[in-house]
Amino acid sequence: MKRINATYHVRGEAEFVDDLPLPAEILYAAVFASPVAHGKILSLEIKHALALDGIVAVFTADDIPECDRWGTIIADCPILARNEVQYVGQPIAVVVGSTRAIARKALKLIRLEVAELPIIIDPRAAFSRGQIIGTPRTFALGDIDSAWSQCDLIVEGKCDIGGQEHLYLETQRTRVIPLEGKNLRVYSATQNPTLTQKTIAQMLGLPCHAVEVDVKRLGGGFGGKEEQATHWASLAALAAWHTRKPLELVLSRSEDLIMTGKRHPYSSDFKIGVTDEGKILAYQVKHYQNAGAYADLSPAILERTLFHSTNAYFIPNAQIFAVSCRTNLPPSTAMRGFGGPQAMFVIESAIAKVAKTLDIPREEIQKKNLLRSGDGFPYGQEIQTNSLRRTWLEAEQTYNLEAIRGRINDYNANHFATKKGYAVMPICFGISFTATFLNQASALVHVYTDGSVSVTTGGVEMGQGLNTKIAAIAAKTFGIGLSRIKIESTNTTRIANMSASAASVTTDLNGNATIRAIAQILDRLQALAAKELGVKDVENIAIAKEKVFYAGKETDLTWDYLAKAANLDRINLSAHAFYATPELGFNREREKGHPFAYHVCGTAIVEVTLDCLRGTYKIDAVKIVHDLGRSVNELVDRGQIEGGLAQGLGWMTIEDLQFNEKGELLSNNLANYKIPDIYFMPDEIDIKFLENDGNSPAPYGSKAVGEPPFMYGIGVFFAIRQAMKAFKLEKEFGFTSPLTPERVLCELYAERLLHKA
Ligand code: MTE
Ligand code: MOS
Repeated sequence: MKRINATYHVRGEAEFVDDLPLPAEILYAAVFASPVAHGKILSLEIKHALALDGIVAVFTADDIPECDRWGTIIADCPILARNEVQYVGQPIAVVVGSTRAIARKALKLIRLEVAELPIIIDPRAAFSRGQIIGTPRTFALGDIDSAWSQCDLIVEGKCDIGGQEHLYLETQRTRVIPLEGKNLRVYSATQNPTLTQKTIAQMLGLPCHAVEVDVKRLGGGFGGKEEQATHWASLAALAAWHTRKPLELVLSRSEDLIMTGKRHPYSSDFKIGVTDEGKILAYQVKHYQNAGAYADLSPAILERTLFHSTNAYFIPNAQIFAVSCRTNLPPSTAMRGFGGPQAMFVIESAIAKVAKTLDIPREEIQKKNLLRSGDGFPYGQEIQTNSLRRTWLEAEQTYNLEAIRGRINDYNANHFATKKGYAVMPICFGISFTATFLNQASALVHVYTDGSVSVTTGGVEMGQGLNTKIAAIAAKTFGIGLSRIKIESTNTTRIANMSASAASVTTDLNGNATIRAIAQILDRLQALAAKELGVKDVENIAIAKEKVFYAGKETDLTWDYLAKAANLDRINLSAHAFYATPELGFNREREKGHPFAYHVCGTAIVEVTLDCLRGTYKIDAVKIVHDLGRSVNELVDRGQIEGGLAQGLGWMTIEDLQFNEKGELLSNNLANYKIPDIYFMPDEIDIKFLENDGNSPAPYGSKAVGEPPFMYGIGVFFAIRQAMKAFKLEKEFGFTSPLTPERVLCELYAERLLHKA
């Protein structure tokens, strides 16, 4: 089944925020942002900007009617900076003009005087100066202190992990239409319509019902529009509120790169203890998360770091410490994997260090410690599937890991200037929002008298294929053709109190709500069909292929007929339903509980060739066995796996986010921030799905797919490292990502480079 609305996309007809018809008198807003990373604002002079022809207004923090700070977890982020600035790119004023160009031109006429203050951009430095957000947290299992004495080998090390730019195709944007009275309609590229609605309402002192947020689709979000889209929507709403004119705010690519937060960089210290055979007995880790200037979602992301610190392994004695550190960078935010990838990188690094010390292949240690059904995580939940081991064994067999190892060893014995490497990367990712209350969703379904169907859910389509899956679920549940189903925009007047579309659970939650809404309508239609057929056993009535079946036999009644007849018989053809994931809970005092509905598992094998003279590499192959459950749409899921993998490979290798010592973003355009393109992608990508009983609480036995495959990309770091090791056997390499070609060269030839300097 092809993607719903694929035709619109191919023809360029799909509507995004700024494709909506332009209202007469529309105004354009541009954002004046801090040029320095930390300082006291001494003065702000807007009169020259105001004097420019075509400029309608300039708004500052003083123009905010009510609440001037926002944030989901801690409302600490100023909508507009008033007395101080905390990062380069922090919004200070909004300029409104008759064209986009004039508004931007006026930005240059604003005069700002700032007394600069010292800045911190390193999370360890922030921690040592007490600059933290929230409280540090520790997860523990077993008895770490007494476990060390039982270990044959203990190694320690540290990791420094780079951030990542979301690089959604569509930059942040919002169109606001003032309606009668004080009402506003907001078309926003947000993953979180309810947060956007609430924040605007609080800022303006309005009830939530005065602010309608509508989202048709996003040109990508990747977590970057989960929290932060609301900031830009608020600025647009503030300007529209005062001018009472339709208004649009669109960040240019370079503004978006500079002003928005990214994936968190982490610095981590690990200590790991194993037996001679490579059984992990103890693991201790400290994660220093670089949260940037404000809380944003950092505490929640830190929590997922805690959950995923042992990745796919059972470790009987573990102690995991994590802390959010405040720095003078843009607030770091959600991005695919949500703190999980950093945690997994550290345990994989620890295993690599053990493997080197014991001189055994990394995958021997990995395999020996893989989680089995019933094993407990440090957070108290047990894993209830053996699919992790099954994916590992299937990958090992069908892709013939032994042959890969042999082929690569042969190659390396016979080549000097190029070396090959491989790595196995198992993943185990918990599915559910870790904040239990967020695991809820609603759906609204209408059947029209012509038999066509309209579905609204609280989920946002951001390219992940949500609408395609919801349509497939709706068609299957009703027993009718896909062309009958239309998925509507996501709108706060049709669905209230939504959770963000995030945590990979959008289909799980909203799909289940959709099934429940449809079940209500089906009950009524089945009763009607029984009446029409003159039978009493309603349970034997079914709808399939747009026909009514009785006791397995096709009748003369059709879907078209039922829809019309129901209306004539005054039967309700609409339903709203609610779904909340059962059995979830987590106790933050004990740091134990049942945070996840289930776990998604899989195993990847990554192969690379490294040019040891140039530092460049080619990813030869990525071979994956993944547990999807029973997919609702295999093509969409395959796309998510390949896309997630691409983003993960980029994060580990060429996506090099650089800030200078003044906190300015150096990688501030697409010439110096590289993401994977088609040539960078592996020559071979093979994805196999685990044969499955479909035992999952998600719709029709499917499983969440959006984020987990991202973490297969981590394997590439260790594959390149293995090739480096083949070139320089004795050398110790660091665990610093991204492993750019420059970094590879520096690590291979550090002494020589140092000598020259
Ligand atoms: N795929 C595309 N094409 N675009 C996106 O923005 N976001 C990712 C993932 N896949 C994203 C994507 C992220 S961060 C998440 S959490 C999930 O999709 C969200 O959608 P889901 O819950 O429907 O999987
Ligand atoms: Mo995804 S990082 O949960 O939006």
